[in-house]
Amino acid sequence: MKIINVAGARPNFMKIAPIIEEMNRHRDRIDPILVHTGQHYDEKMSESFFDDLGIPKPDINLEVGSGSHAEQTARVMVEFEKVCLTRRPDLVVVVGDVNSTMACTITAKKLGIRVAHVEAGLRSRDMSMPEEINRLCTDVLCDYLFTTDRFADWNLLSEGIPKEKIFFVGNVMIDTLLKHREMARGLGLIDRMGLKAGEFAVLTMHRPSNVDDLAVLGGLMEAILEIAGQIPVVFPIHPRTRKILETSGFNSKFKIQNSKLSLVEPLGYLEFLHLTMHSRMVLTDSGGLQEETTVLGIPCITMRNNTERPITCEVGTNFLVGNRPEKVLECVRRVLSGNLPKGQIPEKWDGKAAQRIVRVLLEDAMPMK
Ligand code: UD1
Repeated sequence: MKIINVAGARPNFMKIAPIIEEMNRHRDRIDPILVHTGQHYDEKMSESFFDDLGIPKPDINLEVGSGSHAEQTARVMVEFEKVCLTRRPDLVVVVGDVNSTMACTITAKKLGIRVAHVEAGLRSRDMSMPEEINRLCTDVLCDYLFTTDRFADWNLLSEGIPKEKIFFVGNVMIDTLLKHREMARGLGLIDRMGLKAGEFAVLTMHRPSNVDDLAVLGGLMEAILEIAGQIPVVFPIHPRTRKILETSGFNSKFKIQNSKLSLVEPLGYLEFLHLTMHSRMVLTDSGGLQEETTVLGIPCITMRNNTERPITCEVGTNFLVGNRPEKVLECVRRVLSGNLPKGQIPEKWDGKAAQRIVRVLLEDAMPMK
């Protein structure tokens, strides 16, 4: 079975890594091909993840780069169609919810190729998020929908997706986390940064809803500087956010230099995991980090109005607070007071999701079926 696996942007790499690894264990029956769309291309946004996670070099890089949503999606589709026509795969595997995920799904389906979506069924119900549009388009077209939790199963069923297409397999991103946790623990990065375990916060922020609107970003920056007055904050900064902070004049307005807010370059996978696992709390608008902190048992303050990952609030350590500064500050106070319920790890987030996925593909998706 010839399978094209697609990855395009930073959060895809830790999801595709265990799938490729598992497929490579079944080389007698699976011929895996890795396509990188090139949606993310900076060394720190892409290549360093391949090195850290031991992902084989992509067989093909479409090198689409940045652009508007339509430009980026269209470029992926044009280039991926050529790949499908020359390689003629039996199946395409897409992960997550980025533009590359949707673009490759549409392209493959129109060529009559079956598609499997890993991390299907997540819904924020917020159509202003480009990712929500990507998720809906991808899931409605796919033949195999691999889910991370029961909420996702219910979402798909309520949208009329036949239950035969849905497979609750667990979370491939957690496969990667569990595999690398001990490797990351002793890296020594926090010592080099002059930080003490459990005595600093980690911040990530790149969602258009937080960083593109200068009034929202300004309010959040004020809150973050106030937090940095109580506990050092490390902020590995996404290129999108860096550009906005530089061009808006916020860098000089907010006296970041004299504060305990450290802006650093985006980190590799292992370094970031090291930082997160030793932190007192994480402040973020990321999707995946809500899941990673739940497994690590680290409080996560999610600066968004909704989440497509409600299980992390339901059983994990995630607090959804929105992006109003007073709400963020209130939750930080609660975390610092230590008065928090202990979280649990969601069902099947056990490091075996990729094994389950490949088993389903081998049993169900062989070409003769
Ligand atoms: C994308 C995903 C988002 C994911 C995020 C993780 C979509 C719609 N969004 O958002 O779901 O959470 O990746 O990072 O697919 N840039 C660089 N170097 C790079 C990549 C991007 O400088 O390697 C800059 C460019 O100015 C680009 C901007 O970042 O225009 C945004 O990149 P893009 O891939 O369009 O979206 P992200 O915000 O990264």
